[in-house]
Amino acid sequence: MQLIRRNRILRGTPAMRAMVAETILKPADFIAPLFITEGKGVKEEISSMQNYYRMSIDLTVAEVKELWNLGIKSVLIFIKCSDDLKDNKGTEAVNPNGLMQRSIKAIKDACPEMVVMTDVALDPYSSYGHDGIVENNEIVNDATVEVLARMSVSHAEAGADIVAPSDMMDGRILAIREALEASNFTKTGIMSYSAKYASCFYGPFRDALDSAPGFGDKKTYQMDYANRLEAIKETIMDVEEGADIVMVKPAMSYLDIIREIKNEVTLPVSAYHVSGEYAMIKAAAKMGWLDENKAVLESLTSIKRAGADLIATYYAKHAAKLID
Ligand code: PBG
Repeated sequence: MQLIRRNRILRGTPAMRAMVAETILKPADFIAPLFITEGKGVKEEISSMQNYYRMSIDLTVAEVKELWNLGIKSVLIFIKCSDDLKDNKGTEAVNPNGLMQRSIKAIKDACPEMVVMTDVALDPYSSYGHDGIVENNEIVNDATVEVLARMSVSHAEAGADIVAPSDMMDGRILAIREALEASNFTKTGIMSYSAKYASCFYGPFRDALDSAPGFGDKKTYQMDYANRLEAIKETIMDVEEGADIVMVKPAMSYLDIIREIKNEVTLPVSAYHVSGEYAMIKAAAKMGWLDENKAVLESLTSIKRAGADLIATYYAKHAAKLID
């Protein structure tokens, strides 16, 4: 054969491959989700998320310092609200002394440079396990948005750098932006879960926070996984309403959507490699069916290659160590 181009030349050695690699993961690409629970010295493994824990504030703070030393620049906080504090109004969500607000303060005190992102949605606080206020078996939009805006201001007051609404109500980005402006939080950013699908892959997360919906599902607010154009519509609206970062969630079954969004907007795009995606790799690795380290790097690299500038992943620490 006489070929004018032999593509295998550039794949011939590790050095050649490293030289031409198009996508390089770095620890600063990762957002590390953290589950926080009340108490001291508490570290509880989440049954469906092997080697991932709910921790009390003191242990969380130590974890955050470790993450920072590994080059990770942001954490995303979720709290486990005790049952007696749950209601249908999000009362605890705006408690200035709530677990979320205390967690934000403690992390910012211990590691001021770490970018602290906070989950804004009512499900952990809801007696119905829904992301909004329930009336007549419906998740009502406008009353929910009003609480989400107050919740965001409360997180900003506690020191959050970025609030991350994960609820998929209509109009919440604008309402949050306006509420932050009105309270003079001009340096607080918004990472919008813009294209969040109603996905079975959130199952283990709901175990972690005991936040599974008590009735029905989340399909009247989270998106239908059959849809692509809807993701673009949702995301463009969030950009117009003032989001600083947009997100696609989950990640691996939605790589096409990540690319669509990346091509569509000029904001940083994040993708959430969710609990079920973590659990799948863990389970297969435990069975000896997959090489965990390789599966992690391939998964996260593919998410970045698809167009994600940031990746929220339970493998953040693990991957940061591997890259190192
Ligand atoms: C709550 C929220 C969920 C996740 C992030 N924020 C669960 C849900 O929408 O039911 C899922 C994260 C994961 O599965 O890792 N609004």
